[in-house]
Amino acid sequence: MPRVLLLSGRELEELLSPAILIDEVERAFVAFSEGRTVTPPRTVMWVEGNWWGVMQSYVPGYGVGVKVVNVIPANLERGLPTIQAIVNLFDPTTGSPLAVMDGGVLTALRTGAASAVSAKYMAPRERGPIAIVGTGYQARYQLRFVSYVYRTDEVRIYDIREAAAESFKEYAESLGFRVVKCRSAAEAVEGARVVIEATTTRTPVIEGRYLSRPTHVISIGAHMRDARALDDDAISLAETVVVDSREAVMLETGDIRIPVERGILTLDRVSELGEVASGRRRGRLTDEGITVFKSVGLAIQDAAAAAVAYREALRRGVGRYVDL
Ligand SMILES: NC(=O)c1ccc[n+]([C@@H]2O[C@H](COP(=O)([O-])OP(=O)(O)OC[C@H]3O[C@@H](n4cnc5c(N)ncnc54)[C@H](O)[C@@H]3O)[C@@H](O)[C@H]2O)c1
Repeated sequence: MPRVLLLSGRELEELLSPAILIDEVERAFVAFSEGRTVTPPRTVMWVEGNWWGVMQSYVPGYGVGVKVVNVIPANLERGLPTIQAIVNLFDPTTGSPLAVMDGGVLTALRTGAASAVSAKYMAPRERGPIAIVGTGYQARYQLRFVSYVYRTDEVRIYDIREAAAESFKEYAESLGFRVVKCRSAAEAVEGARVVIEATTTRTPVIEGRYLSRPTHVISIGAHMRDARALDDDAISLAETVVVDSREAVMLETGDIRIPVERGILTLDRVSELGEVASGRRRGRLTDEGITVFKSVGLAIQDAAAAAVAYREALRRGVGRYVDL
């Protein structure tokens, strides 16, 4: 009878620190871009107007991970998270289920780790503020992981909901950052050297004209075919555009699909994070350039992060077993 380890969100936070997770997620991206993982495109379905995804991947050296995830923006008014998920981890050889864990926290952790990998290769040498537009759930993890790689004292923030900006300000101050709450995205982005977009917008919130040089833009929102978080200028000003998966971004976000279809961007100019991390493509060309990392999220991140959580939980005796 298989014994399955249950891991809560709180336990995952404890097990998957930036010091552990960033390097592991980087390895998973390299394996993905070298074609060593098995990662079919995620299955997307719409349920009562909301996005649901089933994401599965085998990452050699880690395991088989399957995530069921939904994104329900109206949950904010219900006092529930926008993103909820469960991740299952399986042994790739025996097929036995190994662990079941909170996928909401795991998603935020692995997304933070991917953004941090982009900052490692693409953030400018020059130090300056990190700007965050959209200060909801993901933003906290984005700040914690990206600032692990790109150290800064100052964070500039903007959110259309005053309450979200205020509570994020308290959170970031508790981590020791000086926080400047701004009245617009343009004001937040002004003078920032790293810009993080983490909104649920469908229309551009980061415009090229807001950006000063050098800047690294990280955009994790706009995960639908027609949705955009970045305008055409932000894309055309970029000396490099890096994505998690060329195939996935063309299917799943207007931020890359629309500029490609309009001829503003050619796909041969778009690199994958795994190609940058392995040294095959360059993430930043000049000290003064604007660079863009766009992600929609890949199942490899969940499978690798779940396997690392399982490994660390066994090592540290964390979690509870259930016999199935
Ligand atoms: N790329 C990835 O791997 C990945 C992973 C997880 C989540 N996401 C995406 O990240 C985004 C944020 O997710 P979340 O869980 O933090 O959601 P959330 O609802 O907790 O936070 C989103 C925040 O954006 C704010 N916002 C919405 N429109 C805005 C605008 N025009 N200007 C400024 N602020 C605005 C909202 O008020 C809210 O505070 C979603 O689009 C989600 O799909 C991407």
